[in-house]
Amino acid sequence: MNVVIIGTGYVGLPTGLGFVELGHDVVCVDIDNNKVDCLNNGKITLYEEGLEDLLLKHLQSKKIFFSTSYGCIKNADVVIIAVGTPQQENSGKANLSYIYDVAKQISNHLDDKYKLIAIKSTVPVGTSDEVEKIISNQNVDIISLPEFLREGYALYDFFNPDRIIVGSNSDKANELIKKLYSSFCDEKLIFVNRRSSELIKYASNSFLAMKIHFINEMADLCEKTGADIKDVALGIGLDSRIGHKFLNPGPGFGGSCFPKDTLALQSIAESYNVELSLLNATINGNQKRFKDIANRILEFVKDIDYPTIAIYGLAFKNGTDDCRQSPSIGIIKHILNKRNLKIKAYDLKALDNAKEILGDSIEYFSDKYECVKDADLLVVLTEWGEFQELDFDKLEQNMKSKFIYDCRNIVKSIRSDFKVCKVGKNNEII
Ligand code: UDX
Repeated sequence: MNVVIIGTGYVGLPTGLGFVELGHDVVCVDIDNNKVDCLNNGKITLYEEGLEDLLLKHLQSKKIFFSTSYGCIKNADVVIIAVGTPQQENSGKANLSYIYDVAKQISNHLDDKYKLIAIKSTVPVGTSDEVEKIISNQNVDIISLPEFLREGYALYDFFNPDRIIVGSNSDKANELIKKLYSSFCDEKLIFVNRRSSELIKYASNSFLAMKIHFINEMADLCEKTGADIKDVALGIGLDSRIGHKFLNPGPGFGGSCFPKDTLALQSIAESYNVELSLLNATINGNQKRFKDIANRILEFVKDIDYPTIAIYGLAFKNGTDDCRQSPSIGIIKHILNKRNLKIKAYDLKALDNAKEILGDSIEYFSDKYECVKDADLLVVLTEWGEFQELDFDKLEQNMKSKFIYDCRNIVKSIRSDFKVCKVGKNNEII
């Protein structure tokens, strides 16, 4: 099939390359000239495991190319909208201007050939209806086809979906979607109405965010009661109705989705006069958590004049260079607002993106042992796998102290002379 993807970001690019790998011909459209040039020349514009190899493979097979022009939609069977729906500046609502601009562009390029238009971007309930009004063409079907790709695992999730939600009012559209996803077994496809599909996306992300907020609150309780959150999470996760996933306590959730999508769902509910009390608590609790963790970090160094804090991890989670709404960045900002001190930070992939947000308010290192030089405290804020096995001899040589605050509970502590504080465990030193 001929597939056009609009938007080459964290969703559009893996989705486009995924469909090529499944055997379809794909054109990815983006308004950013520079991005399109880079991608046509095999240069990846964001970090995502496996993406570069797939791009190079399929530029060679000539089954994908990138363009700034909407002309390609003439030949398309399916057009997938995967542009951003960022938070509006002064409210929690989703900004739909990119979606509506794309809808207008599509409508200007339609001809007599039937087209299926699928909205993959995360959009409030009723957006497909609005897009339908803008496009206003008998020869198209508009469906909701939400993405469930995790950053860092986007290709894995594309090829191994738990489910493919299709919000559609049209049998013709459903048949095309079955063809598009014919490599997957039929049971993966769940057909619902458009509004349900739009809500499923927000409800899924909000539920996961709530699960993280719950385990973070339990971690706080563990710290006070002497229970150990690792054991508590194991114990509750073994109940198959609860499950183990998303029960890792940490500095709070971040990223381009959970913070934005929880706020957007909150404003959708408000507009219908429905109170989502658990969601409200999750949003407030997560914002408070960044401050709480910052205060705990400051507590470690409260007696030191102009202390140096080394931070491991700036990305909002492992496997990505993305710093949007990163807990690490939020916590660093709180720390710097409260005290004059030195922060030195290391990350595997996110240094450039972090620099764009934090500028020269902190120092950046691409070597993790250089980063801890003269540090009074090391704080682990992103769950990169390499932080599990730290070289304690090198830490000892470089650090001023032997204190580590492991906010992701991943550091394997092999030296009893180092004090490694964990989240959700009774930490005597703070
Ligand atoms: C999320 C959804 O998982 C995905 O299905 C959706 O389509 C896009 O949004 P993503 O934002 O890439 O994906 O990250 P995710 O892996 O869900 O993690 C979100 C945040 O929660 C990160 O900050 C992560 O560190 C944190 N997290 C996750 C925890 O603190 N504890 C956990 O147990 C899991």
